[in-house]
Parts: sequence; C-alpha cells; structure tokens
Amino acid sequence: MGGVSHGQGHDAGPGTGGAPGASGAGPDLDRDLDRDLDHPDVILCPGGPMLLRGDHVVHDEDGTEHRTTRPVSAVCRCGSSAIKPWCDGTHKILQARERRRQD
Ligand code: FES
Repeated sequence: MGGVSHGQGHDAGPGTGGAPGASGAGPDLDRDLDRDLDHPDVILCPGGPMLLRGDHVVHDEDGTEHRTTRPVSAVCRCGSSAIKPWCDGTHKILQARERRRQD
C-alpha cells in the first residue's frame, strides 16, 4: 500500500457515486453487497490508520462530525495526528522513534 499524503488519504480512483437508478432494495442491492465483499470499506492498517472507502461520517471525541470527501480516507488511530480525526503520518515517526529507542 502506498503512503498517505495527507488527511484523508490518497486518491484510489473515482468516487463510487452509486449506480444510476440504485435507489433502494432490489437487484441493485444484491450487486452492491457483492461489490462490498470484494472491496472492504474499512481496513485497519497495522500500526497505522483506519482506511475508510467511500462516504462516511466520523464523529470525533468532542462529537464533531467530519465527513469523508475522498474515495479513501485515513482516520488516525494512534492519537498523535495534528489534523485529527485524519491521519497525517505521525504514526510513522512514532514507530521509528520507538525502534531507535529499542536498539
Ligand atoms: S494513525 Fe497516522 S497519525 Fe495517527
């Protein structure tokens, strides 16, 4: 996986947008479920952020809503990002510092 350039992750392609005419249950629902199983919309990166694919609303610790605006967004899980709730890559610095400390 490539690096995350900033807050909401890298562009992984065009937005999902939704299929024309997909307005509820029915044949389109089955197709959407198949797509989701092939491409999980939540991915936990070991030692790093949680990647969200698609449109999501993230509530921070203060209850403020943050909406994703990119095809893939990275949510900080280490608690050290300067742009919470999004990952800014600080977790990599912390990991490198910890490795040096252990050497
Ligand atoms: S997970 Fe990347 S800065 Fe926290």
